[in-house]
Amino acid sequence: MKGIILAAGKGTRLYPITLPICKPLLPVYDKPMIYYPLSVLMQAGIRDILVIVPPDDVQPFQDLLGDGSQLGIRIEYKEQKVQRGIADAFLIGADFIGDDSVCLALGDNIFYGPVFNRKLKTAAKLDNGKGATIFGYYVPDPRAFGVVEFDQDGKAISIEEKPKHPKSNYIVPGLYFYDNRVVDIARQVKPSVRGELEITSVNNAYLERGELNVVTLGDEYSWFDAGTADSLYDAAGEIRKAQRSGKMIGCIEEVALKKRWITIDNLLEQAKSLEKTQYGQYLFGIAAEQEDAE
Ligand code: G1P
Repeated sequence: MKGIILAAGKGTRLYPITLPICKPLLPVYDKPMIYYPLSVLMQAGIRDILVIVPPDDVQPFQDLLGDGSQLGIRIEYKEQKVQRGIADAFLIGADFIGDDSVCLALGDNIFYGPVFNRKLKTAAKLDNGKGATIFGYYVPDPRAFGVVEFDQDGKAISIEEKPKHPKSNYIVPGLYFYDNRVVDIARQVKPSVRGELEITSVNNAYLERGELNVVTLGDEYSWFDAGTADSLYDAAGEIRKAQRSGKMIGCIEEVALKKRWITIDNLLEQAKSLEKTQYGQYLFGIAAEQEDAE
């Protein structure tokens, strides 16, 4: 399975902060926002990743993440020249996806929770490699999101994008797993009233075929769309609080080490330049832990 991070939004809901810097590079507490979706793709076992960035913005992303080899993965970059919506990621990424299945993660969506690892690996398997798997997450006010309606048996029966009168409180967060047909499906999507190729249209196409699996995430999971000043602030506060337990969220080097995609020495090399920070110290800690375990 391939992975795509859509990090091409202008971040207009965060102006003036995002006038000179792209939203997924902003800090969420102690690390850049993009670390969170990147760590999620890596936890799902995905090593081949395309990062879609705004026009002329490849350089800062490359400065941060390079070609991914320091994490034992492969990262390439492509620009989204015109903002055409989320489903455009599959058109931009068609060659990159090739014959593979694909997971799309939005660059401003943050997830964490217990055994998320396992949930992600299961989602990446799809239904024997076929169909689509997305998530449902309870929020008090779902009107700004894709909203999924369930029947009495808990089966998804409709998804609506930003409904005025939502049929449930379950929103579809920005993490989507699809088989290879998603490229053709995205090609057939027509722009919505707001002029975008909606990811909800893609999900509805799978739903109509009876091939959409919606996995609900209970309240032991946290999810943030860090796209506004308030949600960015809240996300940073929650990450800070959650990390007091001693467990770092969104630590891409840790995922790489646990997956054995890099060695302890590789990790220590990277930790050196970060040694003045809590992040760097955490890396030294997990290296020591891993050494003891071996
Ligand atoms: C997008 C999707 C929406 C989804 C949300 C998650 O909304 O269109 O279905 O629930 O991301 O963050 P947008 O960010 O375009 O408002």
